Amino acid sequence: MLSRCLVSTVLLAGLAGWAISSGEGRAQEVADPHQIYESQCAGCHAPHARELVTETLDMADGVLISRRSGQPVASVLRQGHGGLSETQIDVMVWLLRDIRLSDQTFYRKCATCHVTMRELARTYLRLDAEDQVVGRYTGTDIAAFLPGHGRLAPDEVPEMLAKMRSHLGISD
Ligand code: HEC
Ligand code: HEC
Repeated sequence: MLSRCLVSTVLLAGLAGWAISSGEGRAQEVADPHQIYESQCAGCHAPHARELVTETLDMADGVLISRRSGQPVASVLRQGHGGLSETQIDVMVWLLRDIRLSDQTFYRKCATCHVTMRELARTYLRLDAEDQVVGRYTGTDIAAFLPGHGRLAPDEVPEMLAKMRSHLGISD
């Protein structure tokens, strides 16, 4: 497994390569790895990398795979899909995997009934006037509702609420 330090070196190398090949010199935007996704992938896929991950990808034995074909994402991209360089592929897989791992609790405890956080947020949730997550139709205070629902441990509640908030921000 790569150390964080090595990963960020690879990341910077990948971004530098991308900046040169895109030839547009948009240095500010290049600093955000999501920018690679937005410029090279979002034209055909969901607007945000997070949605591609939740809608189409899974983890199997620590490897990020396509839910539909079972093929590792790295192999899909190495076939020239999306036109990334070898380094950019490393960066992209790292980014997508990082998103997937950060959603681990949801996949373990909630996905059997709610499929994806995106679906859950769209179907059941909204932000109220004070920016609190509440039930879209029930008006329930979700911070109070979550402990005891879906076997969520108390210390997992803040992380789950933060994810809900970010999904509601994205879909708004
Ligand atoms: C020209 C359109 C296009 C671009 C650009 C593109 N994709 Fe795709 N991608 C597709 C299509 C269509 C599929 C459906 C798979 C198939 O039928 O081969 C797909 C499938 C995938 C899959 C497999 C998921 C599945 O549903 O099986 C992954 C992962 C993926 N793309 C990632 C990316 C990434 C990352 C980028 C950017 C580097 C990218 N794609 C750029 C069109 C595109
Ligand atoms: C066994 C199935 C099941 C699991 C697992 C589950 N839920 Fe639910 N969830 C439901 C059902 C059914 C409802 C709608 C009925 C209700 O309000 O209880 C619901 C409703 C909700 C609501 C909306 C409440 C409202 O007032 O509108 C939220 C938020 C929610 N679930 C979050 C989660 C989270 C987060 C997890 C994982 C920790 C999870 N659920 C796990 C079945 C499940």
